[in-house]
Amino acid sequence: MSRAPASTLTVRQARYLGGEISVPGDKSLSHRAVLFSALADGPTVIDGFLPGEDCVCTMRALQAMGCVIEVESKSRLLVHGTNGKLQPPLEPLDCGNSGTAMRLMAGVLAGQPFASRLVGDASLSGRPMKRIVDPLRLMGAKIHGQGDKQTAPLEIEGGPLHGIDYTLPVASAQLKSCLLLAGLFAQGTTSVTEKTPSRDHTERLLAHFHAPTIIDLKPDGKTIRVRGGTRLHGRDFTVPGDFSSAAFWIAAAAAMPGADLMVTNLGLNGTRTGLLSVLTRMGAHINESISDSSCEPFGNVRASGRKLRGTKISGAEIANVIDELPIIAVIAAVAEGDTEIRDAHELRVKETDRIAAMATNLRAFGVTVTEHKDGMTVHGGATLHGAKVGSFGDHRIAMACAVLGLFSRGETTITVTGCIATSYPTFQDDLHKIASFTEGGLASFLGGR
Ligand code: S3P
Repeated sequence: MSRAPASTLTVRQARYLGGEISVPGDKSLSHRAVLFSALADGPTVIDGFLPGEDCVCTMRALQAMGCVIEVESKSRLLVHGTNGKLQPPLEPLDCGNSGTAMRLMAGVLAGQPFASRLVGDASLSGRPMKRIVDPLRLMGAKIHGQGDKQTAPLEIEGGPLHGIDYTLPVASAQLKSCLLLAGLFAQGTTSVTEKTPSRDHTERLLAHFHAPTIIDLKPDGKTIRVRGGTRLHGRDFTVPGDFSSAAFWIAAAAAMPGADLMVTNLGLNGTRTGLLSVLTRMGAHINESISDSSCEPFGNVRASGRKLRGTKISGAEIANVIDELPIIAVIAAVAEGDTEIRDAHELRVKETDRIAAMATNLRAFGVTVTEHKDGMTVHGGATLHGAKVGSFGDHRIAMACAVLGLFSRGETTITVTGCIATSYPTFQDDLHKIASFTEGGLASFLGGR
């Protein structure tokens, strides 16, 4: 589970995509499951934990604060809850590349009776933390970042907090979750209003750990309240497959005439599955079947391939597909006509500026792209040729471009692909499972691992 060195991924045009596959555990849920069970009383077994570098950062930080976590296998953890009593860390807590780890843990640490320091890699250290620093300060927190954007390292002098009523200025589940977690340790009630729905894993998992939030749905938004002092109780949890990882295969199969792919045991939370509606609008044949929705809905998705057509994605739909926009841009290149992505400013502050990165890389494959401040228009239907492109150190850029390579003549090379291990360590194996290649060519990682 150590940080992977830089490596290179080479992909050839695929002849066929198909079969049945399940993907590793959901990243958002793995972070939350290990964090919430560490705060709970009693033990929790987590099955399906994503052993990707991002979630391992959260796990290690909790271990560094005295939580005993037995790693029974790569994806099965036994967490001995601390009953909300974390110990002061002796060293800075390393969040690696993970915004979720940093923003959620900052919420918890703001209310602890000890000081802590959160650090991250170069990409995470450039991402805006002001969005959490400002409201945490309104709650009484002593938290400091660097410069105008209040970037990491974050210095936190934990102490008493009080509840606030706060309307989120950006649709962000990380910000919402940060404040709800701080609210658990604050005096009084904390209420967070979101005008645009973001993924609701925190609300669902708090309920699973017997700490329900109170939710009001109003025409102008959703308000989520949490009472200070609410305790969490350990309870086993199984993490379903990550929809955002499966998205690469579902989108690729949907856009490749003749392909037929089934993804099983997949998280199908409706705040995450907007890609399925986007693909359906583009003319795709998708079948979604939910087998259980008691805590986090999960089930199967089947995609069969055909030529797709362009669409427009904007407004409230953006938050639902935020992590899928790189693969949507790829599928837009393969489709007929234009696809316009708007209202997606948030893409500029992800692991890299995903608008600039995708525009640069798509052009290298022969795609015409118009970049906008808040998105891009991809002009589909060009003949695609393989290219050598960089990942920009961003896992989703690397994987999206690998999929574009499956649709492009000749060979595609993506450099610096070690970042894929942050969210999808078995990406290459899964690519081999479902893709058949022309000329006996194979996708391969060269060097590195
Ligand atoms: C996440 C929320 C999203 C998403 C990220 C994971 C989470 O970020 O892009 O990959 O687990 O809460 P924002 O909350 O910044 O939109």
